[in-house]
Amino acid sequence: MHLKTVAVLVLCFLQRSTTCDFRFDYTTTVHGKREVNEYYDVKQITVTSHNTFGVTIENEYIPTLCCEVFNLKLDVEYIIFDNCWIEHIEEECFSQKVQHITSRIAIINNKLTSIKSGTFTNLKVLSIDLKNNLIEVIENESFVNLTSLMFLDLSINNLRTFNPKVFLNVPNLGTLMLQSNRIESLESNALYFFRKDHSRLDMKCNELTYIDKNVLGGMISENFYLELHNNKLSSLPAGIFDHHSFSVIDVGQNPLKNVSKQFCSRNCTVQDFNFNCAGMDMESMGQTVENIGNWVEENHVNLYTDDYCSFNTSAHLVNVGWSTCNGVRGVEGTWFWIYLGILVILF
Ligand SMILES: *[C@@H]1O[C@H](CO)[C@@H](O)[C@H](O)[C@H]1NC(C)=O
Ligand SMILES: *[C@@H]1O[C@H](CO)[C@@H](O)[C@H](O)[C@H]1NC(C)=O
Ligand SMILES: *[C@@H]1O[C@H](CO)[C@@H](O)[C@H](O)[C@H]1NC(C)=O
Ligand SMILES: *[C@@H]1O[C@H](CO)[C@@H](O)[C@H](O)[C@H]1NC(C)=O
Ligand SMILES: *[C@@H]1O[C@H](CO)[C@@H](O)[C@H](O)[C@H]1NC(C)=O
Repeated sequence: MHLKTVAVLVLCFLQRSTTCDFRFDYTTTVHGKREVNEYYDVKQITVTSHNTFGVTIENEYIPTLCCEVFNLKLDVEYIIFDNCWIEHIEEECFSQKVQHITSRIAIINNKLTSIKSGTFTNLKVLSIDLKNNLIEVIENESFVNLTSLMFLDLSINNLRTFNPKVFLNVPNLGTLMLQSNRIESLESNALYFFRKDHSRLDMKCNELTYIDKNVLGGMISENFYLELHNNKLSSLPAGIFDHHSFSVIDVGQNPLKNVSKQFCSRNCTVQDFNFNCAGMDMESMGQTVENIGNWVEENHVNLYTDDYCSFNTSAHLVNVGWSTCNGVRGVEGTWFWIYLGILVILF
């Protein structure tokens, strides 16, 4: 190849990656009838009709989500970018320029690796969905002044740490989905930002080995729903759940050892407790099962477990099947369909 040709190709590439010159298709859903109008090969999402309910962009190549992509003159309920290879979000878009989304922002199945400080600020949305990206870093104060936000989904990403400073003024956050990341620990006061009763934290399928005994410090949410199954927890520190109330605590599928009754003994109420013995060593299992059995009876807790533990308590016991993380990661899902495709072709 000529040097000149290479130079031109490189220039074209740079041009493409530094400007926001993408063309794409999008569909709008219209109020009432919910009919779909398709717009082909445009540079901008234009909403000027009061009838527009939501906008969906799927399977397009938009590596940088630039603010100039948006030309929203009127409110829409939602905007969904699904599988658009998005790597960066220009920081001002969802903080200053795009104020017309009333309910949901979804940037799902993309290639985001980080969320910058201030990316989601002063919005009226109820839900933000960033599921199935490659997010490793969320900077301090990335979600700020989101007074209506109730639901945030960060599941199926690559987070290794959980930094509670990412939130500032999210008083109505009731559901935080963090399942299928690689988070290794929860530090003291990590959940202080939950203010609403019946809030829910889903951290199943992470790599938690450590939870600080003051993890719930500053948290005022009552009847909390805490999902920690499929982690690597070996202990539940004494007093960790004291002075709080829970609708559900799920610690199934953890290699717990030698659990005493002290993890929830002082002013601590739990409605449903999910616990099983897979991954426990035989040595400590007997004592732990006896301790949990007594705790359940004394505190009138509904126990969800499997046969493996052989609890000697008939009160409040419900048998449940195994819960696994299979099929959660996008990649595994993809392989499933590839295998299925090969099987279909073969037979
Ligand atoms: C984020 O906040 C923590 C705690 O306030 C602070 O120690 C850290 O330096 C901050 N990080 C950045 C990048 O500002
Ligand atoms: C958040 O809201 C407060 C009070 O309304 C305001 O003073 C502050 O500047 C806002 N923060 C940002 C980053 O806009
Ligand atoms: C018991 O815990 C609840 C929260 O579940 C709290 O509101 C109450 O003040 C606590 N009571 C005592 C005596 O600590
Ligand atoms: C279980 O834990 C208690 C204290 O919580 C300790 O005294 C005991 O030695 C432990 N037993 C085993 C088998 O590790
Ligand atoms: C189960 O518990 C009851 C009463 O608490 C006791 O009498 C019985 O021996 C126990 N059975 C086994 C197999 O440990």
